[in-house]
Amino acid sequence: MAQTDMKLGAGLQDGSGLTTTEAAFIEEARDAHQLYIEQPYRLYSADNNETWRQLFSRMLPEWEKYANKHFLKGIEQLCLDPNSVPRLEDVNKFLAPLTGFHAKAVSGYVPGYLFFDCLRQRAFPTTITIRHANKLDYLPEPDIFHDIAGHVPMHTDPAFADTLVRFGEAARTAAEIVSEIKDHDTKVQRLDSIIRAMARFFWFTIEFGLMRESGNELKVYGSGLLSSHGEIEHSLMSPDVQRYPIQLEWVINQYFEIDHYQELLFIVDSFDHLFSLVGELETWMKEGKLNNVSGGEPVVNKADLDSFLEANFGRQ
Ligand SMILES: [Fe+2]
Repeated sequence: MAQTDMKLGAGLQDGSGLTTTEAAFIEEARDAHQLYIEQPYRLYSADNNETWRQLFSRMLPEWEKYANKHFLKGIEQLCLDPNSVPRLEDVNKFLAPLTGFHAKAVSGYVPGYLFFDCLRQRAFPTTITIRHANKLDYLPEPDIFHDIAGHVPMHTDPAFADTLVRFGEAARTAAEIVSEIKDHDTKVQRLDSIIRAMARFFWFTIEFGLMRESGNELKVYGSGLLSSHGEIEHSLMSPDVQRYPIQLEWVINQYFEIDHYQELLFIVDSFDHLFSLVGELETWMKEGKLNNVSGGEPVVNKADLDSFLEANFGRQ
């Protein structure tokens, strides 16, 4: 990998550093069909580090007010540098001994099955680019701030980490179930529905979940909220947001849109509660209850479908 890394990084001194949609290193990796990559740390520019510093410093007071206690502990345990983009290697030194999880650099979108299967193996596909300094507030695609500051602190918690692994196991079960279906059109229709149900469940929990803590207080554990300066407060304080105890039958049939603040959020009691819900999701999958969930967002793309259809799911 080191040699390839050198080749890909050679001569890329154009000043854009590793900025979202502007990084030649990433384009070259994608062209070479390299999904899993190294983090070429030398390519980060002074602007990239300044963007990280601004994002981190303005989130700190928000986290102290609104983040769940496991996240706050995780931020401390990871010893993230507030002033510069983290090296994944350093993050993993602190993370791996706690839960076995590690951040794994990727060049872009990871198709559904591959993503979940990484989780099953306690690896978290991690974007290494960082948003442009003039887009601090909203970015449709993930960046290293969302992935490392929003997701990875949660991975220091054993119950949360086990829940992610459980998602990976459920994805494997989905691949096994559809592999038994002979008729191609039926296979694709069922898979489309199961993936949509899983994506919705993931969205309303891991990305946008709320948790009831001691004293009945609501806190944020979803990473989309934990990495959003504007939405974290809005999610807990705005009267415009509906907040309901999570119900599996609702979540799997509820469409979502990614380009505005969420007006509907779901609450879990604990990560043990969330873990048991993923188990229930898998049971429902086996019983056929995910075969015809309601239409609408998210659209399941061909890469996601193919990743499940081509899955190598021999039990390991
Ligand atoms: Fe995310």
